[in-house]
Amino acid sequence: MAYDIISGEIGRPSVFKDESKLFPDHVPMNLVHREPQLRSLSRAFRAILETPGAISQKVTLVGDVGVGKTAVAKRFGSTLESIAKERGIDLRYVHVNCYKDRTLFLVVKKVTQHIIPAIPDRGFSAQELFETLWNTLEDEGIYLLLALDEIDFLISVAGEKEAPLYFLSRATDEFLNRKQRMSLILVTRNLDFIAGLDKSVQSTLLHNVIRFENYSAAQLYDIIRLRSMESLKEGAIDDDVLLMISDMASPRGDARYALELLWRAGKYADSEASNRVLPEHVRKAQLDVSQFPMQIVLDLPLHERLFLLSVAKALKKTKSAYVTMGEVEASYRILCEDMKVEARKHTQFWEYLQNLKNLGILHTKISGAGFRGKTTLIGMLSLSVEAVEKNLSAVLK
Ligand SMILES: Nc1ncnc2c1ncn2[C@@H]1O[C@H](COP(=O)(O)OP(=O)(O)OP(=O)(O)O)[C@@H](O)[C@H]1O
Ligand SMILES: [Mg+2]
Repeated sequence: MAYDIISGEIGRPSVFKDESKLFPDHVPMNLVHREPQLRSLSRAFRAILETPGAISQKVTLVGDVGVGKTAVAKRFGSTLESIAKERGIDLRYVHVNCYKDRTLFLVVKKVTQHIIPAIPDRGFSAQELFETLWNTLEDEGIYLLLALDEIDFLISVAGEKEAPLYFLSRATDEFLNRKQRMSLILVTRNLDFIAGLDKSVQSTLLHNVIRFENYSAAQLYDIIRLRSMESLKEGAIDDDVLLMISDMASPRGDARYALELLWRAGKYADSEASNRVLPEHVRKAQLDVSQFPMQIVLDLPLHERLFLLSVAKALKKTKSAYVTMGEVEASYRILCEDMKVEARKHTQFWEYLQNLKNLGILHTKISGAGFRGKTTLIGMLSLSVEAVEKNLSAVLK
């Protein structure tokens, strides 16, 4: 029996072609809308390839949650490593997340293990380990590009002579007449961490700051479209649905959120044996990611409930991400007739809509191409249509 269950599940059709391409640790080859940041990084680090050892470069990447800082740092680092190799330069990119490795000792240990895999991890202080590392870099002619991600979490611990960042950013300066072997990329959500640092370190770090703005809806759309092409089967998702996801994620400007919605929606499609990701799968995905309290819906006055239920029915019927007021009105009339309540006038609908928008239950946008003139499109981005319909139908009975 277990065999049948397991092989049946594994053999089920899926909307995914390669699901792992949507996992958080996957670094995509192409990072659309991050060309300016990649260019700035390249300009900043060009000297370490042209005149290796002449300088130690330090660059700080700043931006909100999910704007591609880590992805850009990793893609840049590994690409620079290959370009260096083509030129006969042994450059190693090491990415350390300070949230996981929070002290100077742990950071230095991570880096050292990367460069000298056989190093025993006990019995050294951070300074001793660093010296061993430095000697190996010199003996073997290696250059290091170290990325310290989530730098805010790097803390000083008792017994350390210097603050970790002070130590790391000054380490290279100590050997003035020797080759500069280490450059740094610091990654952070904001520059607050700089305040606590030594003035000279502050000025070095503020010298090269690369900013990552939040993504717009249009940029998020481009990102998830490209990411869906490498992870989903052809035809498994419509543009309409991709636009819906980017609209949902755009108030945050966060690509991670958009990708999580895409992945979860794909999982819902699979669980319902649908060969396409539908708007309702996205709504359910969003519900999982951010729970919107259903009670707010149930507390609405009667006619707003009817109006909302009509929107839900229209969305369900058309299976699309957005409907027009005309479509809502049609389903409202039928509903009122069924419920034997007197239908309200058209003019009131805009009031209901406004209120439901303010509550974050409905969303609107103005139609683009494909519609005659400008039409208001109504969508439900933070609730599952099925859940709204079920709950409202129950209380309206
Ligand atoms: N321009 C882009 N193209 C394709 N995928 C992207 C792009 N920008 C971000 N992503 C993806 O979005 C997710 C979030 O990006 P990333 O982890 O780089 O964010 P971050 O800025 O480091 O956020 P945090 O501050 O939360 O660590 C990752 O899965 C990443 O691959
Ligand atoms: Mg990150």
